[in-house]
Amino acid sequence: MVKKIIIVGASSGIGHELAKIYSNTNCLVGITGRRIDKLEELKATNPSKFHIKTFDCTSDNNSEKLKELVDELGGFDLLILSSGTGELNPDLEYKLEQATIDLNVSAFTEIVDWAYNFFDQQGVGQIAAISSVGGLRGSGIAPSYNASKAYQINYLEGLRQKAKQSKKPIYITDIRPGLVDTDMAKGEGLFWVSPKEKAAKQIYTIIQKKKEIGYVTKRWILIALLLKIIPNWIYKRM
Ligand SMILES: NC(=O)c1ccc[n+]([C@@H]2O[C@H](COP(=O)([O-])OP(=O)(O)OC[C@H]3O[C@@H](n4cnc5c(N)ncnc54)[C@H](OP(=O)(O)O)[C@@H]3O)[C@@H](O)[C@H]2O)c1
Repeated sequence: MVKKIIIVGASSGIGHELAKIYSNTNCLVGITGRRIDKLEELKATNPSKFHIKTFDCTSDNNSEKLKELVDELGGFDLLILSSGTGELNPDLEYKLEQATIDLNVSAFTEIVDWAYNFFDQQGVGQIAAISSVGGLRGSGIAPSYNASKAYQINYLEGLRQKAKQSKKPIYITDIRPGLVDTDMAKGEGLFWVSPKEKAAKQIYTIIQKKKEIGYVTKRWILIALLLKIIPNWIYKRM
C-alpha cells in the first residue's frame, strides 16, 4: 500500500533530504515550507510523488493547511515535523526569543496535536519530530532554542504515554540531532557536524524502525549521556 507522508519543513536542510529519500520509496509525500521556489524545485525531481502546500506555521492556520494536504494525498500515515528555528541571542533580544517560541513551541504544539488527533481517530499512525540534543540542557547563548527543544522532548514523551494508554498503534518518534550542516548549525567551535545526507539516512532508519528516541549521528549518544550526568556546578562554567 502506498504510504502517505507529510514533511513539515521540507524546503531545506534535514526535511528536504528526508523528502528525497521518501520519494524513492512506495510513498506519496506532502511537502511544506514558506519558500515555494524550493518546494517546486524538489517536486520537479519526482513530480508524481510530491504534493506542495506553502504556509508559514507561525501565522497560517496549520490544521486547515494540513487537512487540505491530507485530502490531496488521499490519506495520512506519517508526520515528520522538521520546521524549526533558533538564533544565537547573546543580548536576549525578545524578538528573537519570540520567533523561536512561536515556531518551536506554539506551532509545534498545534501541528503535533492535530496529527495526534487524526491518528487517534484513524486508529494508527506515526509522528516523528526533530528536536535536538540541545534540548537536554540550557544554553546561555541561545536560551529559547534549547528551552524550546526541551519542551518538544517533554511534549513528545507526553504524547507517547498517551498513545500507550490508548492501546492504539500510534508511534511517537523523537529525533535528536547533534549538529548537521544546514543553515541551523550556528556558532563557533562546531564539532561532529554531520553532512545532511548522512543525518537524513540515519533518521530514515530510526523512523522506519518506529524507535521512540534516536540520536543523530549515532555518536551523539555519548554527548547526550555526558550532558545528562555533568553536575550543574560544572555545566554553568562551560
Ligand atoms: N542543523 C542542526 O545542526 C540541527 C541540530 C539539532 C536539531 N535541528 C533541528 O532540525 C530541524 C530542521 O532544521 P534544519 O537543520 O534542517 O534547518 P533548515 O535548513 O533551516 O530547515 C528549517 C525548515 O523549517 C522551515 N521553517 C522555518 N520557519 C518556518 C515557518 N515560520 N513556517 C514554516 N516553516 C518554517 C524552513 O522552511 P521555509 O524557510 O521555506 O519556511 C525549512 O524547511 C529544526 O527543528 C532544528 O531545530 C537541527
